[in-house]
Amino acid sequence: MSTPVKKVPIHLQSSQNRLLIKNGEVVNEDGITDQDVYIEDGIIKQLGRNLIIPGGTRVIDARGRYVLPGGIDPHTHFEFEFMGTKSVDDFYQGTKAAVAGGTTMILDFVFPKPGESLIDAFYEYRQKADGKVCCDYGLHVCLRSWSEQVRKEMEILCKEHGVNSFKMFMTYDFMLNDAELYSAFEQCKKLGALAQVHAENGQIIAKNAERLLAKGVTGPEGHELSRPEEIEAEAVNRACVIAKQVDCPLYIVHVMSKSAVEVLSQACKRGTRVIGETLVAALGTDGSHYKHECFQHSAGHVLSPPLRPDPTTPLSLMNSLAHGQKVYGEIEASTIGITGQPLNANMITSPPIRSNTDSSRLLALLASGVLQVTGSDNCTFTKSQKELGKNDFRKIPNGVNGVEDRMSVIWEKGVHSGVLEPTTFVAVTSTNAAKIFNLYPRKGVIAVGSDADIVVWNRTAVRSISAKTHHQAVDFNIFEGMECHGVPEYVIVNGRVCVDEGQLRVVEGYGRFIETPVFAPYIYDSDKLNSLKLEKNGVDNEVDQLQRIHMIHLD
Ligand code: URP
Ligand code: ZN
Ligand code: ZN
Ligand code: ZN
Repeated sequence: MSTPVKKVPIHLQSSQNRLLIKNGEVVNEDGITDQDVYIEDGIIKQLGRNLIIPGGTRVIDARGRYVLPGGIDPHTHFEFEFMGTKSVDDFYQGTKAAVAGGTTMILDFVFPKPGESLIDAFYEYRQKADGKVCCDYGLHVCLRSWSEQVRKEMEILCKEHGVNSFKMFMTYDFMLNDAELYSAFEQCKKLGALAQVHAENGQIIAKNAERLLAKGVTGPEGHELSRPEEIEAEAVNRACVIAKQVDCPLYIVHVMSKSAVEVLSQACKRGTRVIGETLVAALGTDGSHYKHECFQHSAGHVLSPPLRPDPTTPLSLMNSLAHGQKVYGEIEASTIGITGQPLNANMITSPPIRSNTDSSRLLALLASGVLQVTGSDNCTFTKSQKELGKNDFRKIPNGVNGVEDRMSVIWEKGVHSGVLEPTTFVAVTSTNAAKIFNLYPRKGVIAVGSDADIVVWNRTAVRSISAKTHHQAVDFNIFEGMECHGVPEYVIVNGRVCVDEGQLRVVEGYGRFIETPVFAPYIYDSDKLNSLKLEKNGVDNEVDQLQRIHMIHLD
């Protein structure tokens, strides 16, 4: 198998290698500052006011705008062969839509064919993506079976190919059983990789589906009925228990329900090292759509785990993000407790705590955080592809849109509605993903030396979401009609202005594959915490102690 070849003509990079973003407010996860941003050759070179800049530099006036780190979507499936068909957003159209919405990096999932080598599958994805991506990308690799060969190939992927995360399924034909998960987690731990799990109990789903079909329930409503919240929560719990046996850091992809959050929260308190990712779909809409009489409408919302009928789910998940924005190093601190007891603060549904210095805020953050990341799980199928499941909900291709609208919808439902601070928005849409997948501080922050992946965000402008105007290949949008305050006016990808005063100007193949090194400090650096745990007897002030842990892990 040959090495993937990049084919970006050099002139595409050079036309505008110097850029100044002036008069804006820079929002990073740790604060908002008045700073101009000077960019040269794709890198942030200077920050501050009254910078001395070479002549001929293009200037973007960001007065009254926020200047944010570009979004990182840790969960997409472009041109994914799945459930007898292929998702319609390919690496070009998918990343183009991402950039249009203010996302400047995506992480997709290599999905091997049955029996295929993981390495071959990895190369196939590189070959598919490299010439098409409009922004930088990285790859997770899915394990659809367990064997000695898989174990060896995981090591090669980590050591030679820039992979640091592996997804395993607890449902679908290619699910791993508990013993196989155990072995895969052990290998992840040994390699310094992150184990990602799709948590649903596949065997129970199959039985439930048979029962429903026998009763004549064939439509999309059967999808959620066959996999209710407890099916998700049970699997989340099981994954956490297995990971804890081998002390492997765990990342639960697409957490969709309050029940799953509850279980995650309990697992955190027991000392499990777990990160929760939720989806813009779960934050922006709900499972009431499965009752819609129109098949195309309800099937258009089918993904797994499903959207939940409980209408309080989106706000509850958003609150969980509001209080859980720190990566798990800090979360683990909560599980240690200072007195040796778990901290008992269930803040998930409480209002946001605003003060940065308030010790209760710190305690709440540390004690309650179980969701830190938002993805899209963009996996789009057209109305006609969804028809594959017209007479049997089990055959509806699973997946929805979100890569383009993730930033706007989370801004609208989170920041505009007063649940998230802008800094938290940055954490959960960009910084935390960068830390978790070991891309920080190259990505996920506006700092000198970081890649110039930047969004100039107009928080007063409004746009209305529609399949008629979105940039995705799919002919349906689960956020149809939603009005969002918050529009990316300029999107800068590696220093190139790819959304310019709202006009999309991407270049196919401009993005790069970005390696994700193993042993991410934000995931694997718990030795420091363990030593602090031993020191705790000498400390009389709990908040001081927590603050020290907090500093060690953020600075
Ligand atoms: O329904 C979904 N989530 N489709 C994409 C595949 C997956 O499990 O993430
Ligand atoms: Zn999944
Ligand atoms: Zn309809
Ligand atoms: Zn997915």
